[in-house]
Amino acid sequence: MQRLDKYLADFGIGTRKQIKEHIKNGAVTVNGTPAHKADMHIDEYTDKVFFMGKELVFEKYRYYMLNKPDGVISATKDGRTKTVLNLLKDENIKGLSPVGRLDIDTEGLLLITNDGQMIHRLLSPSFHVDKEYEVHLEHELSDSDIELLEKGVDIGDVQKNGTPDITMPATLKKGDYDKEGYPVVYLTICEGRFHQVKRMMEAVNNKVIYLKRIRMGTLLLDSSLAPSQYRRLTDDELKSLKDC
Ligand code: URA
Repeated sequence: MQRLDKYLADFGIGTRKQIKEHIKNGAVTVNGTPAHKADMHIDEYTDKVFFMGKELVFEKYRYYMLNKPDGVISATKDGRTKTVLNLLKDENIKGLSPVGRLDIDTEGLLLITNDGQMIHRLLSPSFHVDKEYEVHLEHELSDSDIELLEKGVDIGDVQKNGTPDITMPATLKKGDYDKEGYPVVYLTICEGRFHQVKRMMEAVNNKVIYLKRIRMGTLLLDSSLAPSQYRRLTDDELKSLKDC
């Protein structure tokens, strides 16, 4: 159970004052009857709440796939810079968080949800969920670079006992060249260390020119989503992500 005005506020319908006004004007009905009190309590699971003739359907968990653009930060709030949540226009963003972080200049797949259990499972180092990246490099990787990157490289992290914390085994596939002639590779890692891909490439004296995440576990970036576009996960995507 929760207060009607709070319930409406979570749908982004307006400020408390505006909501009060809407209620007063009869724009909100509960189970077919105009609501008259902002502080009345409703059962979000069973009561049917309509605002201006449109049903406000309560969903406990929400899951979105965003194609993160360059220049937006993967956080819920930031004083100055646009966050990924600001891109979810017309959505109830309350309680939503991005699943992990992409650097401000990294593009691609970002899952956004309010399902804390899923966030924990996908990010927990013990679950080793694969993350695949399309990486555009300053120059070609040699066979020995590929071997090193796949086996594990020293990216400057140190373990508690003072020894280098080598990256976990990864897989790397060579791709084509991009429009500017930079070589493209596809790197799959199962960790999520800070700037990991960039630091791995630096460890073999290379440099990332452009980075895009294209897969997380079983979830593939929908190629029809332009940067900044998003959509809900399908039931099949959600099911396989929960099983992965
Ligand atoms: N690795 C990076 O270096 N940056 C990202 O945004 C993601 C992985």
